[in-house]
Amino acid sequence: MSTKNSAETVLVTGGCGYVGSHTVLSLLESGYKVVVLDNLCNTTESGTTAATPEALKRIQTIVGTTEPIPFYPVDIVDRASLVMIFQAHPEISSVIHCAGLKAVGESGRRPLDYYNVNISGTLNLLQVMEDFDVRRMVFSSSATVYGDPPKIPIPETSPIIASMSTYGRTKVFLEHILRDLCVASEIKQKEYEQEQRRLGAKIIKDYRWSALLLRYFNPVGAHSSGLIGESPFGTPANLTPFLAQVAVGNLEKLSVYGNDYPTKDGTCIRDYLHVVDCANGHVAALQKIEREEACNNYECKAYNLGAGIGYSVLEVIRAFSKAVGRDLPYVIVPRRSGDVPNLTSDASLANKELNWKAERSLDDMCVDLWRWQSQNPRGYSSQA
Ligand code: WQD
Repeated sequence: MSTKNSAETVLVTGGCGYVGSHTVLSLLESGYKVVVLDNLCNTTESGTTAATPEALKRIQTIVGTTEPIPFYPVDIVDRASLVMIFQAHPEISSVIHCAGLKAVGESGRRPLDYYNVNISGTLNLLQVMEDFDVRRMVFSSSATVYGDPPKIPIPETSPIIASMSTYGRTKVFLEHILRDLCVASEIKQKEYEQEQRRLGAKIIKDYRWSALLLRYFNPVGAHSSGLIGESPFGTPANLTPFLAQVAVGNLEKLSVYGNDYPTKDGTCIRDYLHVVDCANGHVAALQKIEREEACNNYECKAYNLGAGIGYSVLEVIRAFSKAVGRDLPYVIVPRRSGDVPNLTSDASLANKELNWKAERSLDDMCVDLWRWQSQNPRGYSSQA
């Protein structure tokens, strides 16, 4: 996977969440140091008073270290706390930004919360990063920005649209904000360097930003240890965590949202990606930024994080039933509004430019998900 790094320190926002926690682990295994902030709202550890959330304790176990992971129970809308974290950790050299509200259906009912957390919270973070001269970001975007794409598999050049959901709109807006920031930083750097040359002064600052936007397709599964995984707060909206709850008996049956789509079996097709592959994609993106900056290149670029293989809902149910060892109950119900027939990635750009490729199969995702869920029927909450 990735080569050892010179102990650069990365702030992971949302680092106790599903993708965030797996990314923290991948960073540590790649030789980075990490600082984690999370308001714990998306996890069953919400409200815990533990100094170190269970997810981070388990990551320490997997890595085999007793060295504590600096953790801050902070919401990115709380700018003063962000300042405090950067003051306490001047060693932070980049940010992997996973924190945010992410439930598509809920977002339509809570637009102000979604714009406040996802947009204003990210603006807070970017401003504080700028104030502390930290200008490297790997950003958690989403395939939802493609809406109902004209071409499958979907390349990064496919148009991004802001019409699918409030959640999707926050991701589209944030991609534009990051692009504008990177463009403006290049102009600022040129003006600064011209002024320094005019004054005959040395060039000692670099205002330029690097931002890579990772458009997740459908992260599923769990680390093969069975120690960390998705621990959603409340009833899961997404397919595989819901199915996993059915498998452990917490939920009665899965509702399949429509089987009348123009697809191989009538159910929607998605590009499922093992969450460990997704996490490794973040490390690969960070290393791309480091490589490019070593060559004086600063860029803002989007990459698809997907396996490039589309599976239908029924195929996923069959694959997970095989991992569990019995047929899982489901019922066909009407379509869910906002769903599109097919979101399958063309992941060739990430394969080529990030030196990253999804390595784990759908069966791996299902076996690893079942190990996590069967060993932790209520996620982390039974330990919290
Ligand atoms: C997958 C398929 C459903 C639940 C969204 C966001 C994306 C990311 C992942 C945040 C669809 C079907 C689902 C259920 C079902 N979110 N389904 N019954 O909608 O592809 O992507 O979540 O990062 O940004 O857009 O994922 O898992 O909700 O749905 O039939 O109970 O499973 O219709 O076809 P989705 P999903």
